[in-house]
Amino acid sequence: LSVTLNPADRRNISTDLWGIFFEDINYAADGGIMSELVQNGAFEYRREDSINWRSYTSWNKSIPDGSVAAFSLSTTDPLAQENPHYAVIEVEHGSASLTNLGFDGMAFRRGKDYAFSIWTRNASPGAMPMSLNVELLGDGGIVIAATSLSIANRQWTQLHATLTAGADASQGRLRLVFAGEGTAHIDFVSLEPTETFRGLQHFRPDLVKALADLKPAFVRFPGGCIVHGKGYENMYHWNRTVGPVEHRPHQFNSWGYHQSFRLGYYEYFRLCETIGAKPLPIVAAAVSCQFSDQGPVPVPQSEMQDYIDEVLDLIEFANGPTDSHWGRIRAEMGHPEPFGLTMLGLGNEDAINDVFERRFRQLYQAVTAAHPEITIVGTVGPAPSGHDFDEGWRFMRELHVPIVDEHAYQSPSWWFQNLDHYDHVDRKGPKVYFGEYSANVWNAHPLVGALGEAAFMANMERNGDAVAMSSYAPLFCNINHAQWKPDLIYFDNKTVRLPYSYWVQHMFSTTTCDEAYPVNVAGNTTVRRDLSDRIRLNFRTNRADVDITDITFCNDETGDTIPLCDVHLRGSDVATALDTVAERYTLRMHASWKHVAWGFSLQFGDFGDFKDSNEINFGR
Ligand code: AHR
Repeated sequence: LSVTLNPADRRNISTDLWGIFFEDINYAADGGIMSELVQNGAFEYRREDSINWRSYTSWNKSIPDGSVAAFSLSTTDPLAQENPHYAVIEVEHGSASLTNLGFDGMAFRRGKDYAFSIWTRNASPGAMPMSLNVELLGDGGIVIAATSLSIANRQWTQLHATLTAGADASQGRLRLVFAGEGTAHIDFVSLEPTETFRGLQHFRPDLVKALADLKPAFVRFPGGCIVHGKGYENMYHWNRTVGPVEHRPHQFNSWGYHQSFRLGYYEYFRLCETIGAKPLPIVAAAVSCQFSDQGPVPVPQSEMQDYIDEVLDLIEFANGPTDSHWGRIRAEMGHPEPFGLTMLGLGNEDAINDVFERRFRQLYQAVTAAHPEITIVGTVGPAPSGHDFDEGWRFMRELHVPIVDEHAYQSPSWWFQNLDHYDHVDRKGPKVYFGEYSANVWNAHPLVGALGEAAFMANMERNGDAVAMSSYAPLFCNINHAQWKPDLIYFDNKTVRLPYSYWVQHMFSTTTCDEAYPVNVAGNTTVRRDLSDRIRLNFRTNRADVDITDITFCNDETGDTIPLCDVHLRGSDVATALDTVAERYTLRMHASWKHVAWGFSLQFGDFGDFKDSNEINFGR
């Protein structure tokens, strides 16, 4: 076999090819990459977040025997109008305590420091100070650190303390004990480890390290679906997420929980800077998510200019001089230097229709006129519907948008079967940002999914002149709050788990190439299929009370049928069939449950593609 490189037809590979995409899904932000240990420290949880959530969710109230006290909630004269609820603790006699449960408990490490802060107001009729004991509770409820503060000021005042954990804990708690006759108002309770990754405050060092290790060229944020949100108010308005955290209005997260915006645009930019990645913020294209109950809610034309200004202000916040309005706010937050924004995404998976097109065009023209230095990334429609992107591409081509965002979540075999997906991209049109992708591995081994991704990525790299950027999705998953699988990085409140797909991304992004050469291969290039020319199929039932019998396995090419007559599956029994490799197979089964029988057949290809048989439920 002789292999010859062809230097004449060399292609440049984009230096931004491998990036990451952060969205607050699966508790990626609060309870995830943010190091805040207190859940609902602002008492702003509400029914819109999750049906059973209220202002005291994640707090346990306790009044010891012999004490007389009461807890309530108020919004009168709050510290922050944007987040008006605060807790009221009245102690008539003795003491009362509030214990925060954290996000599935709090992880403490012996000898490490934890920064505590709280806003308080003394509302006692007699103006007597109240004492506040702050305690870290370890596993089993033992006190592993404590300090004492005084609530004396009749104006809102922030109190601070540092506590050193005396023991390790994974199910820790924060207990606040109020004593002394009187009334205390409290709000914005916070507890964070002081340890950081490269000085990046408010972030969990282990999770940031997992991102930094990928050496991503860019970070796309903050979504995803939460960018366009459920209706106008729920859209991600970047300018409501900067400045003092107390004044960032909380919102429900369309993935079914709460956003405190402790992770706001300033923090996103700081994250990018810390891990050496370019920022790629995405703003809604003035239309909310088409999949929400309200349907797609467009910004009315009468308010479009305000919305356009909001988008232009983001560029000023990132890059503007410190004497500009938003540049000054950035400087006041601690970053007088510009963040060096070069790209901006407009829209996410929006339905391509007249309403969208009109607004996208307005935004695109306004941003490119005011900021020709910013590269706009457009969107070509909802995933997963790879074959439906034509309308999006047509519109983006018409406008000469330089890069467009395409998404795909597909079965492991899809990736192998579509290796040429980007071979035919029109090199004169927009470049591709493959902004969300992963192999669905619900019914396949995650290694198979990761191999499919790797095979496809190698072909993205080969087409690296047309595919400018890409990012796997979703990025993070708190294993106790999974809404979407698979994900790239799994964690709980103590540990980080990196699946095969992470290492595939790591392999590509840490060994980047900048040129691709066509290769001429001469000689006998027949590649034999391995697996000893045989394929192995495993069958497993998911219910102990279902019998599966009479399995036949048919090679569709030869017509050969192999009855697995001895097979009788129950519970988690596994049967294995071996056959010579074919492109298509049919599997016929007979199942019974409580003497009721079904027969059915499934067709699937090699690579274990069980896509059409994911959800086979027996019984009623
Ligand atoms: O990555 C999860 C979701 O998938 C994103 O929010 C959305 O853009 C896509 O449909």
